[in-house]
Amino acid sequence: MIGVHTLDEFIIRRQSDFPYATGELSRLLRNIALASKIVNREVNKAGLVDILGTTGSTNVQGEEVKKLDILANKTFIASLELGGHCSGVASEENEEFIAFEGSSSVHGKYVVAIDPLDGSSNIDVNVSVGTIFSIYRRISPTGNPCVAEDFLQKGSEQAGSGYVIYGSSTMLVYTTGYGVNGFTLDPSIGEFCLSHQDLKIPSGGKIYSVNTGNFYNFPVGVQNYLTFCKSQGKLTKSPYSSRYIGSMVADIHRNLITGGIYIYPSLEDHPNGKLRLVYECNPLSFIVEQAGGMAIDGVNRILDKKPTELHERTPIFIGSSEMVSKAKEFLDNQS
Ligand code: F6P
Repeated sequence: MIGVHTLDEFIIRRQSDFPYATGELSRLLRNIALASKIVNREVNKAGLVDILGTTGSTNVQGEEVKKLDILANKTFIASLELGGHCSGVASEENEEFIAFEGSSSVHGKYVVAIDPLDGSSNIDVNVSVGTIFSIYRRISPTGNPCVAEDFLQKGSEQAGSGYVIYGSSTMLVYTTGYGVNGFTLDPSIGEFCLSHQDLKIPSGGKIYSVNTGNFYNFPVGVQNYLTFCKSQGKLTKSPYSSRYIGSMVADIHRNLITGGIYIYPSLEDHPNGKLRLVYECNPLSFIVEQAGGMAIDGVNRILDKKPTELHERTPIFIGSSEMVSKAKEFLDNQS
């Protein structure tokens, strides 16, 4: 253990850097980390027990619900409620937000928006999935249950955000607005250990991640940008490589480390694209910006968008700043 920083120790040490911090945000992060270890255990034995497959029902997005989606949802909500520092949760899996009514929860200063198991179509085929979370300071007075407005704040108001990737190893990456740090789970001691301190995304990159099956439904500017990515260019060092896992967390995690752009644009029949602003795009945009990257909806910064609904969708272009800026040039010039 010599020289190893665990997540718990790191969080506590960081908290003491902020003289007025009360420790609630730190404890809330630890509740999330604990829940993610439980989910990790279940994801890892997914092939061994009867937890693969669907429940036979659909969620509010009309998507098929996997058994592990339900388990992850329940685990995170229970951990946040028991922790007592979170006054409510908005989840991809629940149509309405849940306001905790316990005596300590109603005094909790924070609310959490969460996608408990992102990329769940990949669960049954042993491909990385993830959890995405976003933490806000509530704007309603404490002492009463939280309200919808607490969750519908701009992404720039996030107190913290992060993701867990259940991949070849399990990692938790988070920010509280002072840089990004990544922790890898050491299963032998059951602890997340600091492995990626002060993560920075390369300003340029050679990877583009997008579902090109939708190419002919993309706006012309996106089609032109993708043609640019595939073309031979000495100066631009293109063609670039196409890499698309289909788990947003995994695609963004890879691009964060190696440089790259992830795109889920508007589609002809879905002008707001597919991804959800509150619990997918905002938390990942906060991470990527804190790591030095960029995230836009094609026109505006993602973190400046004011959500009006919990499950609203937005197009997103996110990743290395030079690549996102280049994509924006193509979007600006589309006729
Ligand atoms: O619902 C979110 C998500 O599963 C992302 O994790 C992923 O990047 C995307 O949807 C995949 O969507 P599609 O199958 O349309 O490419």
